[in-house]
Amino acid sequence: MRIGKTEYRTVWWEKDQLCLINQPLLPHIFEILRISTYQEAARAISEMTVRGAPAIGATAAFAMALALFQGEDPKIAAQVLGQTRPTAQDLFYGINRVLQAMERGEDALEVAQSLADEYVQASRTMGLLGASLMAQGCRVSTHCNAGWLATVDWGTALAPVYRAQHQGKNPFVWVDETRPRCQGSRLSAYELLNQGIDHRIIADNAMAYYMSRGEIDMVMVGADRIALNGDVANKIGTYSSALAAHAAGVPFYVLAPMTTMDPQCASGEDIPIEHRSEEEVSTMFGWCDSTGRMEKVQIAPPNSPTANPAFDITPAELITAIITERGIVAPSRMEALL
Ligand code: MRU
Repeated sequence: MRIGKTEYRTVWWEKDQLCLINQPLLPHIFEILRISTYQEAARAISEMTVRGAPAIGATAAFAMALALFQGEDPKIAAQVLGQTRPTAQDLFYGINRVLQAMERGEDALEVAQSLADEYVQASRTMGLLGASLMAQGCRVSTHCNAGWLATVDWGTALAPVYRAQHQGKNPFVWVDETRPRCQGSRLSAYELLNQGIDHRIIADNAMAYYMSRGEIDMVMVGADRIALNGDVANKIGTYSSALAAHAAGVPFYVLAPMTTMDPQCASGEDIPIEHRSEEEVSTMFGWCDSTGRMEKVQIAPPNSPTANPAFDITPAELITAIITERGIVAPSRMEALL
């Protein structure tokens, strides 16, 4: 990923430390966090300093290697890390891949590094596949952030946009703001700006308006977990986007690496949905010009209760196709890919 003139990954290993881009400070402050313990890594995942399913998976894998360097029991580290974010399947994939490799006597760090590299390769392939569906000037709607910052590099849903840009197709992206954490307006917009891609941020509730006016050619979103029947858990609001796309006859694509599939979930009903703090809904966090720093402000009556489900389930029948590194398939064919 390009930030200014420098190429970065979102999650990487350097000098015996796990390095992460501190995402809640973006787009205002670019800061790299250097982490030396698995406990700090667990906190970074639960507080969403790092977020997005594959980025969480890679972080958890490196965190298992940190546990080994700390001389801690890997089973306990796996337990602590596994309690951070319940919906993202890649979290469990990353933890278990390293834990099982350690039990076989393999090098934890090498395994974590391979997983990070595999994520990058899967993103490149999804980018090529997705871009093949995009015509010149294609107008894509996306929800949340499923770009570089949500993966190790390139992204899932945004990877085709970046590839299409390289191919000279001049894509345009409608960026849903994605309340309450605003991963769209904070992170996707930041990525697209850095990459020089034409885009516009809209409030979540404006998306169906543009869809119904024929101003969106396709929807591309990521996934936090995919069930065997092709139901998909992704950021809250993805289901609304799929319903609007269905009503307007707009193709709806989900992009994710195969590691996001959960063979234990027969359908979306089996996927656990994370519920986050009430405060995320009743406050906003952002840059304040007058104090010159990041500030949190209360936007709802402090005593009004709120509800904050972080993900929803989009049923397979609303999804045109799922794009993984293995190809573009109908949701009903996902189980056959395993
Ligand atoms: O709560 P977040 O920001 O971790 O949610 C992220 C998403 O919902 C992404 O769409 C998903 O993880 C896919 S990322 C390539």
